[in-house]
Amino acid sequence: MAAPLLLDLLCCLTVFWLLLLPSHSADPDPLQDFCVANLSASVSLNGFPCKPASEVTSDDFFFDGFTKEGNTTNTFGSFLRPANVLTFPALNTLGIAMNRVDIAPGGINPPHSHPRASEVGVVIQGKLLVGFVTTNNVFYSKVLTAGQMFVVPRGLVHFQLNVGDGNALAYTAFNSHLPGAAVLPLNLFASSIPNDVLTKTFQVDADVIDTIKSKFKT
Ligand code: GLV
Ligand code: MN
Repeated sequence: MAAPLLLDLLCCLTVFWLLLLPSHSADPDPLQDFCVANLSASVSLNGFPCKPASEVTSDDFFFDGFTKEGNTTNTFGSFLRPANVLTFPALNTLGIAMNRVDIAPGGINPPHSHPRASEVGVVIQGKLLVGFVTTNNVFYSKVLTAGQMFVVPRGLVHFQLNVGDGNALAYTAFNSHLPGAAVLPLNLFASSIPNDVLTKTFQVDADVIDTIKSKFKT
């Protein structure tokens, strides 16, 4: 067989073989019934080591962090309480997590993305404008009320804005025990990204960047 033809054949076989590989879009499957995280273990690995099963009790599998309304008196008028592996260690290796989202009237859960998970949510109370943007800058949104749901594909920038007259409450769920959240305004304006980068990026003068940064000073 001629060398170029052989190369073509090899390329085709490689692509075919890669297509057959399973693709994982969420946390890997657990290898045991449970693995309650030992958050203070000194070893560092991809996830957390398990607490010895002999030390696991019923309490490990229950979480009451969602019973109280979040305090929304802050810059964004919203409060997110996470139930992830860090706050609810029994979620370790299970590939799931949730948030309680409280938003005051006019408040916003600002544009952010979750690098390790897709998100699904249900509105329990109030009226929320829920939206996300694709990597092609296409915007999808809808105003939701109690009982209505939404989904945000993994990694896409999204927000919820309270457009009702009263407090809004939603619960969100993720296919990762630690979805992570890159909150755009904080990533850009509350980090140490040099001002030059921001003035060039947004095509504005330094005083505009200073004004925005001053809103997020802690
Ligand atoms: C909502 O977007 C959330 O991350 O809980
Ligand atoms: Mn989110």
